[in-house]
Amino acid sequence: MIEFSNKKIIYTPCYCEENVYHLCKAFGKLDDIYVCFISNENRSIPIWKQRASKFHDGIVIWDYHVILLVKEKSNPTKVYDLDTTLSFPCDFSIYVQESFKILDDPQYHRKYRIIPAEKYLKVFASDRSHMDGTWFASPPIYSPISTSESVNNLPLFINMTENLDSKDFVSAYFTETLIFIGFMLLVPIFYAANFYFRYKRHRAATPWSIQEKVVVITGASSGIGAALAYEFARQGATLILCARQIDLLANVSKECKEKYCAKNVLIQKVDVTSETDVMRLVETVDAAYSKIDCLVLNAGVSMGETLESIEDFDLIKKIMEVNYIGSTMLAFYSLPLLKKADKARIVINSSLAGIIPVPLRTGYCGSKFALRGFFESLQSELVDDNIFITMAYAGAVKTDINKNRLGENPKKLDFNNAMSAEECAKIIVDGTVKGHKEIVFTNIGKIGRLMESVFPDLLAFLSYKRARKFYVKEIIDKSL
Ligand SMILES: NC(=O)c1ccc[n+]([C@@H]2O[C@H](COP(=O)([O-])OP(=O)(O)OC[C@H]3O[C@@H](n4cnc5c(N)ncnc54)[C@H](OP(=O)(O)O)[C@@H]3O)[C@@H](O)[C@H]2O)c1
Repeated sequence: MIEFSNKKIIYTPCYCEENVYHLCKAFGKLDDIYVCFISNENRSIPIWKQRASKFHDGIVIWDYHVILLVKEKSNPTKVYDLDTTLSFPCDFSIYVQESFKILDDPQYHRKYRIIPAEKYLKVFASDRSHMDGTWFASPPIYSPISTSESVNNLPLFINMTENLDSKDFVSAYFTETLIFIGFMLLVPIFYAANFYFRYKRHRAATPWSIQEKVVVITGASSGIGAALAYEFARQGATLILCARQIDLLANVSKECKEKYCAKNVLIQKVDVTSETDVMRLVETVDAAYSKIDCLVLNAGVSMGETLESIEDFDLIKKIMEVNYIGSTMLAFYSLPLLKKADKARIVINSSLAGIIPVPLRTGYCGSKFALRGFFESLQSELVDDNIFITMAYAGAVKTDINKNRLGENPKKLDFNNAMSAEECAKIIVDGTVKGHKEIVFTNIGKIGRLMESVFPDLLAFLSYKRARKFYVKEIIDKSL
């Protein structure tokens, strides 16, 4: 016996294709369930025993009609017709006998298209345009059904002469291939244009040296943040370092002064998720220097487990708060001071996980992807203000990030091929001075960045394969 959930059936008169779509969803297993479209070239098919009929025998001449067929091993096949006056469901033989009578005129001969229900749920889409905007019947209250490939393919299902497979699938990939070939032909032109705009940006952003620039760094108490402080100090910056652990900040400040000869280093205890702390930091900088030349948004936390294994969703919220809200909030309050500087910089220490999806880091990837959207959008707003935003996408860097991962049982990032924090900081500072729009680390990262827009499915596959090497195998298997 096939399991049919007792959920309330979704039904809208005259929208049989959508009613059947929802009916399919109500079944537990779709193995032996088929959607049957009935129509013909004249869009005139008689079906008897229909609730919408005004005649005593229940005949309606539909343009098309859709029913569901359920094959059962021991019982006769059942027909689920939401518009019939017969039983629901009805034995196939009774339904055929009662509803599929013959009218002699060939224009009324019925044709049938049978589609496995599973496939129907995957490909069917309708924008309801066949109702011609006049809405003979009120449309369903829920949104039209669509897929990533189509907003409307109902005509293909009703067209009884075309092969659905070739139309629905092959043409979608054919169109994609054509777009791709066209794109490839234009690649040299795009490449030249891209080079020109990069050069133009570089011209606008430079010359710019770090000497005596007011540089604010978040998360400067350890790892890449501390290394950035040393590199900026080495090149003569005036520093404002912040993080929550003031004792560690004091050590970094001391090293900036003693080892890298920094003249001015302020430290301030700041939790980037606290609006009060962030506002106070901006007030401190305003009082001391009245401008910010370079805002480095580095504070961040990570995770290392599957979404499924997380016990408390607060972990994802916390990552979002530190990585995304923390960075965007500080950028928001710093804007007036950034505008007072000449060719100011905002540097975001994102991650390759901000452009390439990585398992076990849903919340982390989400926060870093979000940063990209926010700051690329902000960049377009700030072009006339001569503020240059640099997104840094580093790969694995040897820091305390493993130790500081949130969650009960985070899996560690493999540091075997990781670069040092000092090397990472040098690359970020160099890209900042040059005013680069983005700094993508490692060759794999660069390829990934390129593939991201052109071969997204291949990239997702490769990123999963690569992640498998990094993380404990059984955890990944469990997450699949
Ligand atoms: N390590 C990598 O492989 C790697 C790769 C790519 C990108 N990144 C990014 O680099 C950044 C720095 O990470 P890291 O590797 O240097 O790790 P880390 O050594 O753990 O440093 C994280 C820093 O963020 C600060 N921080 C955390 N929560 C904060 C909060 N609520 N308010 C203020 N500061 C906070 C920490 O300071 P307190 O604890 O003192 O507050 C610490 O200074 C992160 O954004 C990370 O996503 C790291």
